[in-house]
Amino acid sequence: MKLIGTKVCKKSDLGIHNNLFGGTMLSWIDEAAVAFCSEVCFTPNLVTLKLDEVIFKEPVKENNLIKIYGQVMFFGNTTITLNVEARKFNVYTHEEKLVTTTKLVFVRIDDDGSAIPIAKHVKEKYPELNRK
Ligand SMILES: CC(C)(COP(=O)(O)OP(=O)(O)OC[C@H]1O[C@@H](n2cnc3c(N)ncnc32)[C@H](O)[C@@H]1OP(=O)(O)O)[C@@H](O)C(=O)NCCC(=O)NCCS
Repeated sequence: MKLIGTKVCKKSDLGIHNNLFGGTMLSWIDEAAVAFCSEVCFTPNLVTLKLDEVIFKEPVKENNLIKIYGQVMFFGNTTITLNVEARKFNVYTHEEKLVTTTKLVFVRIDDDGSAIPIAKHVKEKYPELNRK
């Protein structure tokens, strides 16, 4: 998997139990994922269609460093599916602990917001993934 984003959990990111607020983690994942998919697909015109089941397996506390990793899983006609992992990174030991894993689907859209095909040259770079 490729590193697609790094975040620091700030005090303002915490929920009432002093763990990272889950919705903030979703926002971090969505943002890192769409940025990466835009790069892969050579277009900024992608919208989030779907987020798979998300399970928060480890608490994230203030000052924890979160690394977000992504890997392209599939191309459909108009969609790209990405596997994502968020891992807690220990700066002292460089150990990583899985916090969250999920899958996201983005759709390429035109100026009117309608789905349009992912560019052919993009899919040609991933011949092993050209099916859903
Ligand atoms: C994304 C959007 C343009 C797709 O419109 P649509 O009319 O469903 O488009 P299509 O029917 O052509 O489907 C487009 C793709 O989505 C896939 N799709 C549609 N509904 C799906 C579902 N429930 N689950 C999985 N895939 C789905 C289709 O299979 C198709 O994939 P493919 O082209 O790779 O085969 C439209 O749903 C939309 O604008 N959604 C809002 C997006 C948004 O604002 N996201 C931000 C989060 S709030």
